[in-house]
Amino acid sequence: MQRVALAIHHSEVILEEGFLYSDEVIEVLKPISTKFALFCDTHVAELIGSKWCIYLNEKELDVSLFTFPPGEHEKNRERKASLEDQLLSQGFGREVCIVALGGGVTTDLIGFLAATFCRGVPLVHIPTTLLGMVDAAIGGKTGVNTPFGKNLIGAFYSAQNIFIDPTVLSTLPTQEWINGMAEVIKYGLIRSQPLFASLKTDRNFYKSVISECISIKGEVVEADFNESTGLRRILNFGHTIGHALEHVENYTLSHGEAVAMGMLVESYLSHHMGLLSSQEFEEIQQIIRSFPFQLTLSSRVTIEKVGSAILLDKKGSGQFVLLEKIGSCHPFEGKYTTQVSPMLLQNALQWMIEEFGVIE
Ligand SMILES: NC(=O)c1ccc[n+]([C@@H]2O[C@H](COP(=O)([O-])OP(=O)(O)OC[C@H]3O[C@@H](n4cnc5c(N)ncnc54)[C@H](O)[C@@H]3O)[C@@H](O)[C@H]2O)c1
Repeated sequence: MQRVALAIHHSEVILEEGFLYSDEVIEVLKPISTKFALFCDTHVAELIGSKWCIYLNEKELDVSLFTFPPGEHEKNRERKASLEDQLLSQGFGREVCIVALGGGVTTDLIGFLAATFCRGVPLVHIPTTLLGMVDAAIGGKTGVNTPFGKNLIGAFYSAQNIFIDPTVLSTLPTQEWINGMAEVIKYGLIRSQPLFASLKTDRNFYKSVISECISIKGEVVEADFNESTGLRRILNFGHTIGHALEHVENYTLSHGEAVAMGMLVESYLSHHMGLLSSQEFEEIQQIIRSFPFQLTLSSRVTIEKVGSAILLDKKGSGQFVLLEKIGSCHPFEGKYTTQVSPMLLQNALQWMIEEFGVIE
């Protein structure tokens, strides 16, 4: 596979199979610092991190490995403070380059650590999940969760380098593929009809699909880095309903499946608002249903509960991103979101419950 190099808002992205064990990786890292702190969860350390750290040391880079337990619950202020204290107690200071190797939990948590450690030190992201490669590691959002909600404390802080080596995906469990797939489909729907069309036949996420998704996220982020103009909201397509379903299902539904269902419901809304043609709505359903998503809801899901959860969602606040066609969102005068009538929302949720069955 050819190397793909992209520049996205102060980040140099290199996408290449085998890049982690190439001579070039050393050439890129060496000028950044003389001291590196490599962070990953213990699961990723076992699969990739420990071996890669030895490789880097053998190539005469001064790299120390720091690990923490895997899981979303680790993305919190306490874990960040404990890792910071480890760095400080071992004498690391302003000169350190922080390397975050892992999924979105790692790049969010460690990215935030890099943003505040000694008031900000160089950061390299190496995403190892499909979701991390196409979404979480791109775009400079870092942060942690609090008891009051997800991602409420954080910073916009760009990694100066992002290395994407798709060979690491060979060990990714199915459920993690599914979480990434939903985001890949989303990029096609919001920004690229050809990408969406290619998903009918090309499910080889090792190749062009990953770079196409990164380009789309990069283009959107470049235009609206701090979420000030509105365009960045289109990345939330499918997530207003998706987050509400995750909440009502008590997080037993995977994020990817919730977003897949969210995209179907928000496509229904787009169609019934007179924006998306019935033919395209049909096509979206066909493609999403052809992926291995478990599109089933439990009896916990009622119109009332989903409706209330939509209003609780801090990101969506009851607003929806709607498609005007496959590959394009309606701009709504630059806001890129709109409210829908309570009656239409009710009909859409009724349709969802009828379609995706209620299982006990
Ligand atoms: N900053 C952003 O713009 C942004 C965007 C989307 C999502 N996110 C965040 O990303 C997080 C979710 O990311 P995620 O789904 O990558 O979760 P994650 O980081 O928890 O990774 C999921 C699991 O996969 C394992 N894993 C990672 N790489 C692996 C590999 N190559 N092989 C086998 N197992 C591997 C991890 O150890 C973990 O158990 C959420 O916290 C979400 O808020 C951030």
